[in-house]
Amino acid sequence: MSEQSLRFRKSVRLQERGRELIPGGSHTYAKGEDQYPILAPGFIERGLGCHVWDVDGNEYIEFGMGNRSVGLGHAYPTVVRAVETALQGGSNFTRPARIEVDCAETFLELIGAQMVKFCKDGSDATSGAVRLARAYTGRDLVACCADHPFFSTDDWFIGTTPMNAGIPEAVRKLTVTFRYNDIASVKDLFDRHPGRLAALILEPSRGDDPVDGFLHEVQRLCREKGALLILDEMITGFRWHAAGAQKLYGIEPDLSTFGKALGNGFSVSALAGKREYMRLGGLEHTDRPRVFLLSTTHGAETHALAAAIATMRTYQNEAVIEHLHRQGTKLRKGIAEAARRHGVDGHFKVVGRPCCLAYATLDPNGKPSQTYRSLFLQETIRRGVLMPSLVVSYTHDDTAVMKTIEAVDGALAVYAQALESGTSRFLVGRPTQVVFRRFNNGDGRADMTTPENPQAANNATMGQSETRLAATS
Ligand SMILES: Cc1ncc(COP(=O)(O)O)c(C=O)c1O
Repeated sequence: MSEQSLRFRKSVRLQERGRELIPGGSHTYAKGEDQYPILAPGFIERGLGCHVWDVDGNEYIEFGMGNRSVGLGHAYPTVVRAVETALQGGSNFTRPARIEVDCAETFLELIGAQMVKFCKDGSDATSGAVRLARAYTGRDLVACCADHPFFSTDDWFIGTTPMNAGIPEAVRKLTVTFRYNDIASVKDLFDRHPGRLAALILEPSRGDDPVDGFLHEVQRLCREKGALLILDEMITGFRWHAAGAQKLYGIEPDLSTFGKALGNGFSVSALAGKREYMRLGGLEHTDRPRVFLLSTTHGAETHALAAAIATMRTYQNEAVIEHLHRQGTKLRKGIAEAARRHGVDGHFKVVGRPCCLAYATLDPNGKPSQTYRSLFLQETIRRGVLMPSLVVSYTHDDTAVMKTIEAVDGALAVYAQALESGTSRFLVGRPTQVVFRRFNNGDGRADMTTPENPQAANNATMGQSETRLAATS
């Protein structure tokens, strides 16, 4: 019997069924079968803290945490209790629930914006921000940062990726790009499209800090040219700083978007910003047309807002951010030492900010490699760690960090042998792939990535600074 059928019997069966029923076999591409080697858990049964159990009963220390949506840990008790209490009182009514105001107060007190609207997914929030900016400025063009891999599932962004089938060219032409920490590229955009840019959207950071006041300079240019600045804090929010990277970098965007860790895995996101803009989605103004800002049936489910309040309280009362940075720093140090010990430090690099680390796998020629990534994933999974990235949570304690470093040490011993004699003796089955590829026939035109799989963007950024490698962490 093969190792796959021995260790992952139920997973394999579910994957076969999933492939028939769900395009891609999974409802989120970044969790899909093609993102992992074949010796990997196909489906998760449950999670607790920083541990998960797959459907075959195998246990793992997990990094990645639901595409970074779980900041405190799986099934975090205070969040679960708040959700249970809310559910007892019903989840959705004909008029707004009282908790909508409570959650808005808690959020605005923490982040410091003037108004907020909650929704379900990060994509709702970023797309709402783009619509609002277009309505406010009366302009059609939007600029997003080319070094940041994901902003929305909507056409205005997906049209910029290689997976743009089904998106009309007329829509694709309305999104243009600039580079992070490259103010000349921003100036160039404004020069090339005078009076046409509604907004610039970017993440405040993807590991590399803004250089030479980049964010402030972008803001100055936006003000001068009449465009809005949108900071997408989907990942940086509740990781860089409890009040967002905007607080850390001392910048007040016109609009900002949050999601992911805001609800510790529950579905809640937020579009926040200055009253001057947000009010256009309201009922009071008469000076401008109304904007359909965000309004969905499930947008303010009580239990999701209860999860958000409980999560925000934890960040307010406990040193969550410090913990994430501390544990990430220990991980990075331990893994770097292991890489040096095995002589692979030129081929395996931990990148990013300690609260949100990723890694790059480079082949014998120093080229980013999905095959080596697959081997590394396979060998860490064999040792009880599931690490598509190195994203820690509040429940990653010292024991988890120590066990992970041991597992990585073992995996890198195999990695070192593979660098000497090739991966074929070691990797079982086909390698992983990047999400944003145009075809499934392995034509390799993979110049975009998901936040979980930084490899493809590494292709684009190799030869540049190491922090650029972190751009997709
Ligand atoms: C920076 C960023 N913005 C927006 C999104 C979209 O969020 P969601 O997947 O919740 O729609 C993501 C998702 O990965 C993201 O990483």
